[in-house]
Amino acid sequence: MAVVIIDGRELILPEGRRLNGIEAARLVGIEIPHYCWHPGLSVVGSCRMCLVEVGMRDAKTGRITMQPKLVPACNTPAVDGTVFVTTSEKVRQARARVEEGLLLRHPIDCPICDKAGECLLQDYHFLHGQPQRRADLRPYTSRRRDIGDVTLFVDRCIMCSRCVRFTREISGSSELMVVGRGAQEEIDVFPGRPLHNNLSGNVVDLCPVGALADKDFLYRQRVWFMRCHRAICTRCAVGCSIWIDENQDRIYRLRPRPNPFVNKWWICNEGRYGYHYVHDRRRLVRPMRREGQSLHELDWGLLPDELCQRLRTAAPLAAVISPFVSVEEAYLLCKLIRSLDAQAVLACGPIPLVGQDQNFPGGFVVLAEKCPNRRGVEAVLAHFAGKVVSFDELLQQLADGLARGVWVAGGYPMPWIDHQQAQRFAGLELLIVQDLFPSPLSDLASYILPAAAFAEREGSYVNRNDWLQTSAWAIRPPSGVRPEGQLYWQMLGMPGLFNPRSVLDDIARQIMFFSAATCEIPETGLDLRVNLLAEGQADKERSHDV
Ligand code: FES
Repeated sequence: MAVVIIDGRELILPEGRRLNGIEAARLVGIEIPHYCWHPGLSVVGSCRMCLVEVGMRDAKTGRITMQPKLVPACNTPAVDGTVFVTTSEKVRQARARVEEGLLLRHPIDCPICDKAGECLLQDYHFLHGQPQRRADLRPYTSRRRDIGDVTLFVDRCIMCSRCVRFTREISGSSELMVVGRGAQEEIDVFPGRPLHNNLSGNVVDLCPVGALADKDFLYRQRVWFMRCHRAICTRCAVGCSIWIDENQDRIYRLRPRPNPFVNKWWICNEGRYGYHYVHDRRRLVRPMRREGQSLHELDWGLLPDELCQRLRTAAPLAAVISPFVSVEEAYLLCKLIRSLDAQAVLACGPIPLVGQDQNFPGGFVVLAEKCPNRRGVEAVLAHFAGKVVSFDELLQQLADGLARGVWVAGGYPMPWIDHQQAQRFAGLELLIVQDLFPSPLSDLASYILPAAAFAEREGSYVNRNDWLQTSAWAIRPPSGVRPEGQLYWQMLGMPGLFNPRSVLDDIARQIMFFSAATCEIPETGLDLRVNLLAEGQADKERSHDV
C-alpha cells in the first residue's frame, strides 16, 4: 500500500499500482495540465506544462522535505510518501510562462482552426495563461503541408511529439519525425514517404492543438455545434468503442472512445472513415411490395400486420440474420419467425472476410472479419435452433425446397450477395428482404424493407473476444426507414416503443452466453457489459489498467 499526498489530500494506492503524478492527481479530482503526456505513449517530459512541486514525507517523523525545483508530474512516480503540490504560486507562474512561450509563435487563427473549442492550448490559456500578452502581436504565418493521410499546419505545432511517438510505438510505421533544432523544430515526413497507415487518423486525436487536421473533417463543422454519442464501430469484429459526432442527424466524424479492454485509445482508419454509407443517396428508404413487375411504395401503418399474415401462409419459413444486426434484433426476429413456424430454419448471413488480420506493434489489431456481431448472432441462433446454420447450408436447403417463405435481415454496408447466390431465392412464395442498399436479392424480393444503419439503431454487439457492448443511437434514420428492432417488436405484438434494454435482460435470463454483469470502470467512466465467459480475462486485464 502506498500513501501519496496531493494538495493535502491523501490517496491510498494498492500494492503494485504504478501511477505518475498526473494519473494520481486525477484520482483525487485534480487535473494537472499537460501536452506531451498521453497514457498510451511513452513519457518524454518535454512540454513542461505539468510542472509541480514535489516532496517526500518521512514515514517515521512525518516531516516533509520539498525539492527546490519544480519537476514534471508526468515523469514523477507516485510512490509511498510522495507529496505533490499543484496549486502554489510557483506552479502557477511556471504554467503561465509555458503558455506564454508556446503562444509566442502560435498563430492566433482560432476562428478558422478545426481544433477551436477542444484545443488544449486555448483551454489552458484561459485557465493558466497570463491575462495580457507581453510580446508583440505579429501577422501570423500558417503554413499548410500535405504529409499524407492528414494535413499538417506547421506553425500551430507545439512540438509535444505525441504524433511522432504514436507512429513509432503504436502503428510501428515511423513516418513522422522532428526536423530542425530549437525554435526551428518542425514535424515532417521523409521525402517520398508520406504518413500512410491504417491507424494514421489517431494522430489527429492525439494532437492537443490544431496542427494535425483530418482531411475528412477539415472545415466541415465547428465542434461546438456537434453532439457526441457513445457507440460501437461496426466495421470489423473488434468492435471498437467510439464517439459519433453529429449535428442535425448528419455524422461528421467518428473518434475513438477509450476502452482498456477493447481498443485502448485508438481506432483504425477503416472504422473512422467507414461511416459515409450512412448518408449515401442510394440507400433504401421506403418499404415496397412487388406486384407483378413493378414495386409499390407502402405505408408502415398496416405493414406489420400484413407481413405477419403473409408469413403465416408461407410456412415452412426460414430466416437469414446478418452479423450486422444487434443481439436484440436477432433475438426478436428469431422469436418472431419461430412463433409463426416452430420448425423454421434460422441461418446466419454471410460473414464478410477481407484480407488478413492486421497486427500493429502497439497491440492494436484490425480483423479480417468485417462485421461486428457474428458471435452474438451465432449465440442467439444456437439458442433457438440448437446449432448455427451457415448461409451456404441455407442455400442448399432452399435448393431442396425446405422453405417457401424467407425473411432476410441484411443490413450490410457493402455488397454481400451475387446474382448466382440470389438466384437460389428465386421462385419462393414469399421473400422479404430488409437491407441498406438494393442488391441482386432485393431485385427478387416480394417485400423490400429499408434497414437502419449502425448509428441509427440501439443495441448490443458481441465482439470476437466475447465482449458484449451496447451502442446508443446517434442520429435518426432517414424518413421512411423503421429500425429493425421496432418492426419486430411491433410484429410480436409488444406494446409501446422497442426497448432494447428489456430485450437484453430477457436474453440474459434465457441464454447463458449473455448472462452478463455490468462493470463500471470509474477512471474512464465506461459502462461495459461483461460477458461471464470473458470475465476471467477481464479481471486479468483490469489489473493492468491504470
Ligand atoms: Fe509533463 Fe509534458 S506533460 S512535460
